[in-house]
Amino acid sequence: MRSATISKHTEKEQPINFFKCEFPAKSINEGFARIIASAFTSQLDPTIAEISDIKTAVSEAVTNCIVHAYKDSDKAVKQVITLSGEYYINGRVVILIKDKGCGIPNIKEAMQPLYTTLPSEERSGMGFSIMASFSDKLKVSSAVKKGTSVRLEKRINVT
Ligand SMILES: Nc1ncnc2c1ncn2[C@@H]1O[C@H](COP(=O)(O)OP(=O)(O)O)[C@@H](O)[C@H]1O
Ligand SMILES: [Mg+2]
Repeated sequence: MRSATISKHTEKEQPINFFKCEFPAKSINEGFARIIASAFTSQLDPTIAEISDIKTAVSEAVTNCIVHAYKDSDKAVKQVITLSGEYYINGRVVILIKDKGCGIPNIKEAMQPLYTTLPSEERSGMGFSIMASFSDKLKVSSAVKKGTSVRLEKRINVT
């Protein structure tokens, strides 16, 4: 007798590889984050342009955690950034940048080109636009006083 199981839920695709790390939200770690993301993505043999796109997008997200997320936080609070990544069959790379800072009250507004809450510090307000143009998909989730999470997705051309 033959049998078949029909599952109501499609199984979540498992990544081929993944990593997760945590570091303090300090500007010295911006370059560190870029290198981790590029070293991880390098396993897929990307072009220099693909690597550079990922580094640029990751840099913007990490810089935002450093300059915005913890700007009013009590120094006693653990000011950390969590960087993680996964890649899947067909070269789909997903990078997540998370903080536990102040959060963004209106994500749609914050993502508008030129929008910045720190004009005095000469921020350009172009960070989210850069993240969107240098990745294939960008998703931002945030909760006030809880933190922000940026999910960048990029397809690397694997042959
Ligand atoms: N991780 C974050 N935590 C809190 N606020 C953020 C974060 N990332 C972005 N923002 C908010 O979104 C705005 C727009 O971000 P962005 O496009 O990178 O421009 P900029 O950093 O130049 O201000 C910021 O000015 C800030 O108010
Ligand atoms: Mg920015």
